[in-house]
Amino acid sequence: MNELDPNNIPKHIAFIMDGNGRWAKKRHLPRKFGHKAGMDALHRIVEAADDLDVDIITVYAFSTENWKRAEDEVDFLMNLAVEYFIKELDELVEKNVKVKMFGERDRLPEKVQQAAKTMEEKTQNNTGLQLNVCLNYGGRDEVTRAVKNIIKDGIPVEDITEETISDYLYTSGLPDPDLLVRTGGEQRLSNFMLWQNSYAEFIFTDTWWPDCDKAFLVDMIKEYQGRQRRFGNVNED
Ligand code: FPP
Repeated sequence: MNELDPNNIPKHIAFIMDGNGRWAKKRHLPRKFGHKAGMDALHRIVEAADDLDVDIITVYAFSTENWKRAEDEVDFLMNLAVEYFIKELDELVEKNVKVKMFGERDRLPEKVQQAAKTMEEKTQNNTGLQLNVCLNYGGRDEVTRAVKNIIKDGIPVEDITEETISDYLYTSGLPDPDLLVRTGGEQRLSNFMLWQNSYAEFIFTDTWWPDCDKAFLVDMIKEYQGRQRRFGNVNED
């Protein structure tokens, strides 16, 4: 099944987990069932990323724009986030996974903030795969927050470089994504990691997120391994 080049595994993969609602609709189920199945898919992808020696995965679970959804869907997603952090804790600790939450915490319900904090604290010294869960995350919001904090910290204008900005983002100290995968058929970035995805390879696939599993991740990495990354340089072949 594998046939991957072990020397060219992307270190950091970002996922826009889209298509949960349509997955449910096709089965004549309420949207919630799609999100629940999406959580199971996240479990499979974390496991697969760990098996395949990916260093970091960052997943877009709830955007700053997702508050516009129906109140009961928002509540369901918040409860699902709590359920994820509580139910997966022991297994993630055992797998040596380090978990971080990226996003503006203050607007999230207290129970989500608390569950995320517990997960982060219990996994902070882990040295295996890093899983970043984006909740109430927006790329523009992240950059705005960085600029405000740079000013608050009194960094002199002449000292501000691209590295300064990077250091003030949630991803401070982490390499940028090598690969961005968006499931669900749409071909847009939807305010996700605007700064960090500058040189990522993009894959847009029609597969719905709840259908994703290890075989899917292997296919994504195979496609990545077929790409030539030039980072603005010329093709030397
Ligand atoms: C987009 O699908 C998906 C979301 C807004 C939620 C993503 C959430 C999960 C995968 C659940 C697991 C994770 C946690 C930690 C909460 P959509 O609803 O926009 O699908 P559609 O475009 O088909 O309607």
